[in-house]
Amino acid sequence: MKKYNVGIIGYGWAATAHIDAINASKQAQVTAIYSSRPLDSAELSAKHGGTITAYQNLDAMLADPSIHIVDITSYPSQHRDQAIAAANAKKHIILEKPMANSLQEVRDITAAAKANGVHGCVCFECRFSGQFITTKAMIDEGLLGSIHYGEVDYYHGIGPWYGQFRWNTGKKDGGSALLTAGCHAMDALLLCMGNDVESVSSFSSKSKSEIFAPYEYDTSSVTIIKFKNGSVGKCAAIVDCLQPYYFHTHLVGSQGSLLDNKFHSNKLQTNKAAWSDLSMKMLDSGDVSDHPYQTQFQEFFDALDENRDMKWTSFPESLKSFEVIFAADRSAELGGQPVRPSDL
Ligand SMILES: NC(=O)c1ccc[n+]([C@@H]2O[C@H](COP(=O)([O-])OP(=O)(O)OC[C@H]3O[C@@H](n4cnc5c(N)ncnc54)[C@H](O)[C@@H]3O)[C@@H](O)[C@H]2O)c1
Repeated sequence: MKKYNVGIIGYGWAATAHIDAINASKQAQVTAIYSSRPLDSAELSAKHGGTITAYQNLDAMLADPSIHIVDITSYPSQHRDQAIAAANAKKHIILEKPMANSLQEVRDITAAAKANGVHGCVCFECRFSGQFITTKAMIDEGLLGSIHYGEVDYYHGIGPWYGQFRWNTGKKDGGSALLTAGCHAMDALLLCMGNDVESVSSFSSKSKSEIFAPYEYDTSSVTIIKFKNGSVGKCAAIVDCLQPYYFHTHLVGSQGSLLDNKFHSNKLQTNKAAWSDLSMKMLDSGDVSDHPYQTQFQEFFDALDENRDMKWTSFPESLKSFEVIFAADRSAELGGQPVRPSDL
């Protein structure tokens, strides 16, 4: 047996990708799954390997002392209560995005983890993609110099062809274009530019296509971010487009620029008149089986070994991204009026 036993909450699409990633890690294995549906322990064990106990009662799973970590992959409107219950049961927590659909709930979750001395991992796994590990390394090596403008945008049409559509169209669980999926792009922008945000100004809109008519909220938004250091950024969150998945990144700095997988750097004396290619695994799909959960969870388990918060996607770090996201959504409600995250 490996060191950490993980109990999963929710057994949907994200859960299946999480189980594979957890079981492939050095220290952890899935030993329990809680679902509102009756699941069969023997079937789950045969399908995923190891010995998995199925629970239909969350309190019973949380009371199991052999479980060290709870992984929450349920509907967003359930995240707060389940995360607080897990923290109070002294379990470390993996939490799917959005952490929750209101800032108060996200703050409640972060506070409960702190009060109980447990660590968190938010599934902003894009930070652990080949694309953003390389992009961040280029920034940290100074190859782009000091970045004064950056845009990271999320284009992914979430229509009836997508499993989440059945619940994602409702405001209660979908939230907003940023909360439901665009948060990955905003979080990546903050990874690249820092999360010290002065104010944001956001506008939102909605496709006129009948395909997206069931959505109860605006499914396209664009946010301009003013950072405290004087730099500016932009993040578009578009979930009502009819085009291939596209995670667009353009960073402009005092030594060069990066556009997706292309760059120029004065420091490297590359040819400014032509882009140089960067070979890296791009974020080019919304499919969870493609997501870099394994790299992210490995870092989380390594951090638990050292009793420290994980890098990049701990609860306190991701709370900062959600403060910016909720400020953006508030600004869009106010017709674009600037909102300071620190005022929320
Ligand atoms: N980080 C990412 O890139 C990423 C990708 C996908 C989903 N997610 C997040 O993961 C969470 C779950 O999303 P999902 O795509 O797994 O959604 P899903 O619809 O597959 O599952 C959502 C919930 O519904 C339950 N469920 C699924 N089928 C059910 C059924 N037949 N009967 C009863 N309950 C059922 C699941 O157990 C789960 O609790 C959400 O918070 C979502 O935003 C994140």
